[in-house]
Amino acid sequence: MTDITETSAWAALAEHQAELAGRHLRELFADDPGRAERMTVTAGDLYLDYSKHRVTAETVRLLTALADAAGLRGRIDAMFGGEHINVSEDRAVLHTALRAAPGERLVVDGQDVTADVHAVLDEMSAFSDRVRSGEWTGFTGKRIRTVVNIGIGGSDLGPAMAYEALADYADAGIGARFVSNIDPADILGVLAGLDPEETLFVVSSKTFSTQETLTNAKVARQWLVERLGDDKAVSRHFVAVSTNAERVADFGIDTDNMFGFWDWVGGRYSFDGAIGLSLMIVIGPAGFREMLAGFHAVDEHLRTAPFEANMPVLMGLLGIWYTDFFGAQTHAVLPYSQRLARFPAYLQQLTMESNGKSVRADGAPVVVQTGEIYWGEPGTNGQHAFYQLLHQGTRLVPADFIGFAEPFADASADGPGMQDLLNANLFAQSSALAFGKSAEEIAAEGTPAALVPHKVMPGNRPSSTILAPKLTPSVLGQLVALYEHIVFVQGTIWGIDSFDQWGVELGKVMAKDLVPALTGAEPAAEAPDPSTAALVRRYRELRG
Ligand code: F6P
Repeated sequence: MTDITETSAWAALAEHQAELAGRHLRELFADDPGRAERMTVTAGDLYLDYSKHRVTAETVRLLTALADAAGLRGRIDAMFGGEHINVSEDRAVLHTALRAAPGERLVVDGQDVTADVHAVLDEMSAFSDRVRSGEWTGFTGKRIRTVVNIGIGGSDLGPAMAYEALADYADAGIGARFVSNIDPADILGVLAGLDPEETLFVVSSKTFSTQETLTNAKVARQWLVERLGDDKAVSRHFVAVSTNAERVADFGIDTDNMFGFWDWVGGRYSFDGAIGLSLMIVIGPAGFREMLAGFHAVDEHLRTAPFEANMPVLMGLLGIWYTDFFGAQTHAVLPYSQRLARFPAYLQQLTMESNGKSVRADGAPVVVQTGEIYWGEPGTNGQHAFYQLLHQGTRLVPADFIGFAEPFADASADGPGMQDLLNANLFAQSSALAFGKSAEEIAAEGTPAALVPHKVMPGNRPSSTILAPKLTPSVLGQLVALYEHIVFVQGTIWGIDSFDQWGVELGKVMAKDLVPALTGAEPAAEAPDPSTAALVRRYRELRG
């Protein structure tokens, strides 16, 4: 593998950054007011304005040359073609196949992948329809009113985020709850408010070996059986989503009630497949398929648009530009939609589990920063919390603003002009970040001299603005696919395997080994190091 930092494309960008670093966005706009119209890209329903970035046309040319040097075009084809680009696990990476249209035949490792995907989608649809219509009832004959998804990481964050995002499309009188944490407060808190006769548990785990999920599922099963007084109730109230039928059966869930997927779907890329079952039950198969069509539109955009007009490619490269050439440490994601409150948390797993790596795919160390750190809260809440640092702090925090023209539901649901107020805030914030307010402008307003430095807004703080008509299932699919592909583009530039997650394993094993010391079955001295042993002793004292 070539080290990307040794290419002439990387050197050219470093040189260009040195020239551009001293230039303010005010100057860039003064020199080229047309950039506001030109530095825009459309993908499906998504419109991106990237004019408020510290870039020129030359930067875009150099960044796309970097993508060429990293072989991005070939990597995109390899991913869509089912090559084993997850090298450390020797697997294809085919989440894009989860949203391929039925006729798009793709045979990988001898399997007709599209046919398999649609067979599972059809099973999910049939089951969802039965639950939604009331044909599928609980053990006592009552309709299901609540679906509880038990899963963690990729088996939780996607459906939980999407359920909240698409709450207005819940049209069958069925709500969903999500349990993930091993903290008993999570499962017990959820169960406390539920009627067992009307509750369906969807146990979601790719491996079906995850401690948190299996423990929570056992607690839920015991709760159900105790209340309904019969083991036989389990088959009416528990279904599973997994790649591992054997473990599902061992757990006691009928594999007739299991919805499958495949090792070529990474956990964090899986809610558009069977892991989205809870979402499908709530919004219905038609809404779910509309979401898949949205994903697919952006997949096609990634595959076919030239890099300079390719939204995920440009946004991925901009992330590289700030991370590796400007030393930015984090990246704010600021959805101006309360419905997207969980979107930043969802993106954290996507980017940090995918690209938080310090070796390349060939095992050699990486020599630059990798893995963007996303964080954020919905606007306008964030404005009254952390935007102070974005505007006047010492760090450079590039931001993505995400806004919608129409309010969450029908236009009639817009409280008196609230959507306009919301978006006025979005546009004002990105403008203030980019252009700021100079000392002269502040002094000219009659501000006392001693106060002027406190009020200076330096500006030159870059952001993307993504606008879409409305947060529909399709638009949600488009947004998620956009960020999935941003992560892929960045992983390709850094030369890392974005599809494994070995870094989470050690802690899992150690936690399991530590349990006997915590329960007192083993002496605290069995802990792996003196600090942990002391903590365990203290913990046991506190537990009495
Ligand atoms: O935290 C590691 C991880 O393997 C994630 O990648 C995954 O999404 C999560 O655990 C849950 O795994 P599973 O779906 O196998 O329970």
